[in-house]
Amino acid sequence: MRLGLPVLLLVLVLARGSQPQEWHSKEAHTVNWDKFSGFWYILAVASDAQGFLPARDKRKLGASVVRVKKTDQLKVVTAFSRPQGCQSQEVTLQRDRKKTVFRNTCAYGGGLVSTGSLPVRGVKAFRVLATDYSYGLVYLQLGRVAITHRTLLLLHRQNVSSFQNLRDFMDWCDILALTKTAVVLPKDASCAYTILP
Ligand SMILES: *[C@@H]1O[C@H](CO)[C@@H](O)[C@H](O)[C@H]1NC(C)=O
Repeated sequence: MRLGLPVLLLVLVLARGSQPQEWHSKEAHTVNWDKFSGFWYILAVASDAQGFLPARDKRKLGASVVRVKKTDQLKVVTAFSRPQGCQSQEVTLQRDRKKTVFRNTCAYGGGLVSTGSLPVRGVKAFRVLATDYSYGLVYLQLGRVAITHRTLLLLHRQNVSSFQNLRDFMDWCDILALTKTAVVLPKDASCAYTILP
C-alpha cells in the first residue's frame, strides 16, 4: 500500500507520450476563493528548484492553509519538508488582474518563519490551475528577486488523492515540462500538522 501511489505515478509517466498541450485553454478561469480557503494537504510536488525536497526517506506530506483577508488579499501558509527539516512560511498576496492568481508585491516573499540556508525563498505567485474544492492544482512561483522557480502542487482536503487527481497533476506536469521532477509524497502528516489552523 505504501508503494501504491509512486508506482501509479511511474505508470502514468510511462504511459503517456509527450503531447504538448495548450495551458491557457485548460486552465481554470475563475476560483471561488472562499470555497478554496482552509486547510489542504500537499500530496505531490513537481519543482524545477534543485534540492527542493529532502532525501527520499525523509519526505513527508506538505500542507497549505489559505485565507481570504480582504477581497483582494490572500494569506497563504505553507509547510514543506525540506532538506533542512519541516519549514513553514506565511505570506500575504495581492490579487492579480487575473481571477485565479495572487501575487506577492514585496520582493522578498514575506516573512520566513524558520530560516536556514534555503536555496528557495518566498512565494512570489499563487495560481490555481484547476480545482473542484476537494482537490486543487496550484502553480507556485518561488524565489527571490531575480530567480524564480516553478513548482506544481497537488492539494487535497484529505491525505489521499484519487487516480483522476493524480492524472490531472501529471497532465499539468507535462504542460509545464516538470514531469521528471514529479514526486508523490509519503503519507507522514507530521510536518503538515505543524500548520493546522
Ligand atoms: C489519513 O487520514 C485518515 C482520516 O482522514 C486518518 O485516519 C489516517 O490516520 C491518516 N493517515 C496518515 C498517515 O496521517
